[in-house]
Amino acid sequence: MGLLSTAFWAVASPIVLFLAYTYLSLLWNYIVALQIGVPVRAIPIEQTNPFWMIMDKKVLAFLKRYLPFLRGSSFARFNWRGFEIVERYKPHHELGDVYMVSTPGKNWLYLGDPDLVTETFKRRNDFPRCSKLTESLNVFGTNLGTVDAAEWKRQRKIIATCFTEQTNALVWSDAVARARDMHRYWTSKPSLTTAADDLRTLSLGIMSEVGFGQSSKFRGHEERLRASGTSTTSYKDTLQEILENCVLIMALGPEVLGKLERWLPKKLKKLQHACVVFQSHMTKMYEETKAKVSNRTSSQTSADSRNFLTSLVQASHGMTSEGLTEKQVYGNMFMLAFAGHDTVAHTFTFAMLFLAGSPDVQDWISEEVRAVLEDRDTKDLDYEKDFPRLHRCLAVMCETIRLYSPVALAKWTDSAAQTLQVGQKAIVIPANTMVIPSYSCLHTDPRWWGEDSLTWRPSRWIRKSGPKGEEELITPRKGTFLGWSEGVRDCPGRKFSKVEFVATIATLFKDWKVDPVPLDGENLTQARKRVLEFIVEDAAPVLLLQMNHPERVPLVWKKR
Ligand code: HEM
Ligand SMILES: *[C@@H]1O[C@H](CO)[C@@H](O)[C@H](O)[C@H]1NC(C)=O
Ligand SMILES: *[C@@H]1O[C@H](CO)[C@@H](O)[C@H](O)[C@H]1NC(C)=O
Repeated sequence: MGLLSTAFWAVASPIVLFLAYTYLSLLWNYIVALQIGVPVRAIPIEQTNPFWMIMDKKVLAFLKRYLPFLRGSSFARFNWRGFEIVERYKPHHELGDVYMVSTPGKNWLYLGDPDLVTETFKRRNDFPRCSKLTESLNVFGTNLGTVDAAEWKRQRKIIATCFTEQTNALVWSDAVARARDMHRYWTSKPSLTTAADDLRTLSLGIMSEVGFGQSSKFRGHEERLRASGTSTTSYKDTLQEILENCVLIMALGPEVLGKLERWLPKKLKKLQHACVVFQSHMTKMYEETKAKVSNRTSSQTSADSRNFLTSLVQASHGMTSEGLTEKQVYGNMFMLAFAGHDTVAHTFTFAMLFLAGSPDVQDWISEEVRAVLEDRDTKDLDYEKDFPRLHRCLAVMCETIRLYSPVALAKWTDSAAQTLQVGQKAIVIPANTMVIPSYSCLHTDPRWWGEDSLTWRPSRWIRKSGPKGEEELITPRKGTFLGWSEGVRDCPGRKFSKVEFVATIATLFKDWKVDPVPLDGENLTQARKRVLEFIVEDAAPVLLLQMNHPERVPLVWKKR
């Protein structure tokens, strides 16, 4: 053999072996799946393969353009992250309530039946959450979002003490105040492209203040830019820097960033710096809070200065097996900051664009806010009195999450096979199988949501009741709305997020309305239609489902 062919084989043989291994695995998974007795589709690459994730949509768009026979294949339809959002209920209507997608990694079982999904949520030990997918949230320590079984139960009990009505009342008043500041900033400009960024700032500000006692004033996008010419050093600014780049950090981890520091490009250096500063803020806050907590007599362990941080520290302080370690406190601080604002921020952005495209819905919520407030100003919005009456504002949130759920749910069978009753048939799901509640199908299935299920129409959440025809929110059929998940592992921040959303939307829309800025040659009706279409095109999963380029829709606020 010549040198050249030796070199060729040295390079090629690992690749050949790798491909052989991959496709034997796929074949094996496919055979296993066929034995379950549900429809099976095979795809060549696991959707969660990190290299594939970077380019999946682009590669598939390219292939579909030049290889038309691929259109409609399982590869083109199912082999990318976020396919559920585009396919909606179609795969289940074609393949049935349960179908399997085989990949070279795992088999993925999709459940499109509300009762089956409810059952898997109930059997939480049989179908635990697949924490492997969220491991990247461990950057500053393990936390509630990433632990399982007994450890999860222990941490959940501790975290639950964070969510009180008193916290919700603080969220409310903080949201109203910030929304008023934000609105002043927005209406001082002829038009704005920074709504999404500003809404994130608002949400993060609330989280920092209410969750961690770090007060700050709302600053609009340009004000922030001006300030960040100097290096970012406050708790909130470093957290914002980290969260805006969280995909990178989660991919690399702060330790790797630290080790590579000297070789990093400027952007990553800044990020690495933010990680270090953020950790030092957390350490300082932890130490201060610990001193405060230990100094208090029990009669003083009062409500006044209680927030997420004091709850976590109290749970870690002076306890043995029951408490959190210092590292777990940091892990949970970061997780709460992330889970508690990123979700809401994306929901705000989707809702804002839907509203900009739907003037009738803006009129509808303004009418409600005015009726509830009577002659009061938005600064007097009251949590106890007004929040329970602002059904339409809450309906806007639920309807937005119905179509664009920020959080993708994933359970699995872990190390044991499980039996599931599907209609007349009991199927056995092998160990190590992903079990996915098809939320995007359940949220849009015409069986539960009617013929116009793909339309954004918040009024579907409202029904009239009683002799006076008072409005109230509907409760969807169990298992057909999973926005905050269900069962014991549901979202503890459900009410927190509703309070934040309703306070903000009520404040913004009482006396004002928002329109998209028409392009040249476009009238307002056409511009609104363009915005609604843009939402569909632009939505894509990063860590959560989000709009990628909300800044491409300039908005303008007008007084009613
Ligand atoms: C629009 C707002 C929100 C949505 C749609 C949402 C949705 C969800 C969902 C679907 C889960 C379950 C995840 C899974 O099983 O994989 C979850 C978990 C969680 N959420 Fe939220 N969430 C929101 C806001 C919040 C807020 C404001 C907080 C805190 C302040 C929060 C804290 C958490 C925590 C700590 C968990 C983990 C619970 C556990 O694993 O036991 N969320 N959320
Ligand atoms: C703890 O309490 C003592 C007296 O009650 C007070 O002098 C001290 O400043 C307190 N320390 C902290 C950290 O609050
Ligand atoms: C906007 O343009 C469309 C199509 O050209 C037209 O049908 C519609 O009547 C126009 N609407 C307004 C409000 O001018």
